[in-house]
Amino acid sequence: MKASPVNTPDIIPVNDAISLRAVDEIFVAPLYQLTLKNKAWLQQTLNWPQFVNEEADTRQTVQGNVMLHQRGYAKMYLIFHHEALIGVLSFNLIEPLNKTAYIGYWLDEDAQGQGIVSRSLQALMQHYVERGELRRFVIKCRVDNASSNALAVRNGFSLEGCLKQAEYLNGAYDDQNIYARIFSE
Ligand SMILES: CC(C)(COP(=O)(O)OP(=O)(O)OC[C@H]1O[C@@H](n2cnc3c(N)ncnc32)[C@H](O)[C@@H]1OP(=O)(O)O)[C@@H](O)C(=O)NCCC(=O)NCCS
Repeated sequence: MKASPVNTPDIIPVNDAISLRAVDEIFVAPLYQLTLKNKAWLQQTLNWPQFVNEEADTRQTVQGNVMLHQRGYAKMYLIFHHEALIGVLSFNLIEPLNKTAYIGYWLDEDAQGQGIVSRSLQALMQHYVERGELRRFVIKCRVDNASSNALAVRNGFSLEGCLKQAEYLNGAYDDQNIYARIFSE
């Protein structure tokens, strides 16, 4: 996958209010604050929040993801509502040969229930499909994560199977549903 040209801001508009902005070090402070605000809640569904204890932890994550984003091995976008950072939508892994991306997302708890991640996801997939870079999108989520399973179904993903004890979270290895959506040429 080609890297974005230097100096071209990597911003994907979703609608008048929402946009996706490529991960960048200028967003470290607000991303850390958003993570702190949601830390206890996010820890119910994601393993990494427990390891975010100071701004340097977020900076390290951001720096790693800037490199992966620029090289096309992954893509991390921050979800903005006007100028407010409210969540993250990522391709955690990209397989360029297979034109496949593995999706991850989380939102400010207070911003749920408005279709913000769904609309962002549709815009993100469309962006990469139009460029011919990706065609298969995958969501893997714990069977118990009702909001995430509902999001996959709401966005036209099909359940392909259930991976047994595939995700470690808070002391247990939980079963994971795997969903995919394919855009054929
Ligand atoms: C998973 C998560 C992102 C889902 O957030 P969400 O706001 O429910 O997701 P969506 O953007 O699909 O919004 C759907 C909700 O908005 C409503 N909605 C309003 N307008 C909508 C629109 N135009 N399009 C879609 N849904 C809309 C839907 O009815 C639904 O509300 P409901 O759950 O009360 O029925 C959120 O719960 C989260 O961050 N969880 C913690 C982290 C996590 O689990 N990540 C995934 C790990 S696999």
